[in-house]
Amino acid sequence: MNKPLDENARLRAGNERWKNEAEPAFIHRLESNLMSVGNMNGQFYPEPRIAGGYVVYQASQDELSKPLAERVPPTALRHYYGFKDGKWHDDLYLSTGLNDTKQMRKILADDGFSLEGQRIMEFGCSSGRLLRHFEAEAHSSEAWGIDLHSPGIHWAQSHLSPPFHFMTNNTNPHLPFEDRHFGLIFAGSVWTHIGELDDAWLLEMRRIMNPGGRIYITISDENTLAEVKRINPGHESNKHVAELDEVTGMLSKDYVQFVTRSTPWLQRSVYNREAWLKKIGRWFDVKMAKANAYGWQTGVLLEKR
Ligand SMILES: C[S@@+](CC[C@H](N)C(=O)[O-])C[C@H]1O[C@@H](n2cnc3c(N)ncnc32)[C@H](O)[C@@H]1O
Repeated sequence: MNKPLDENARLRAGNERWKNEAEPAFIHRLESNLMSVGNMNGQFYPEPRIAGGYVVYQASQDELSKPLAERVPPTALRHYYGFKDGKWHDDLYLSTGLNDTKQMRKILADDGFSLEGQRIMEFGCSSGRLLRHFEAEAHSSEAWGIDLHSPGIHWAQSHLSPPFHFMTNNTNPHLPFEDRHFGLIFAGSVWTHIGELDDAWLLEMRRIMNPGGRIYITISDENTLAEVKRINPGHESNKHVAELDEVTGMLSKDYVQFVTRSTPWLQRSVYNREAWLKKIGRWFDVKMAKANAYGWQTGVLLEKR
């Protein structure tokens, strides 16, 4: 009969087992499993490791001599903005960013909200396609861009900062800012990807906003579904919606939200606008909802009471 192990022997056996398993291949497997679990909390998109590490470079003097609004990130950091007819267009990347922010500025102005002196944050800023158009505000007050995508944030830090501040966050719905810090938070096509943690993120935003401050969010809703079908019937999201509908029948039922696919980048979250606004209207005053304010997405403006 085997003698039971004493406590020290058990600990030694445990350590040995860990030592054998903690080889690079094991750690690599562990890490890639971690990063591919769509719903796990506390994730971000890391820098790819080259020869076991990564480097963040300064921007070249040549790049820094261009006006801030003309510095264009490498295509891998553009999230498909400015990609048309199989080609990347720098001018389209820049002009779509300017147009989307103009739409938002108009919605804020229609609501009588002034940006003067307001601290601003863009949530899900990628490489700063939108935030770069708030240069004056960044100089006179404070403007932050944050995203899960660390390579995009590093590019923005080296090319757009100062005057902007950038930071990588993770999927845990908590941010390192004080209560009531920001006057304006905006997020273009981010609530279209969040999924289950959407309410937690919205309430975290509420915590760091001033009373009377605004949050501008773009969402996919019924109008977006109809627009995608009309403008681009071959768009793959139409297929994903049809597949989920075939199994659930959600389109002919009273849904509040549905999500196709998984992971923060790939998944698409769609709201029934009225039902969703009714839910979040208990936490914010709904100031405006404008269809096609950001491409085929609806822009929603909320005020913290
Ligand atoms: C479609 S892109 C939009 C980028 C940018 N807002 C724009 O309009 O150019 C969505 C961005 O949201 C980011 N994102 C998704 N979930 C996030 C989260 N929980 N926290 C921060 N960023 C997030 C993605 O990494 C990605 O950069």
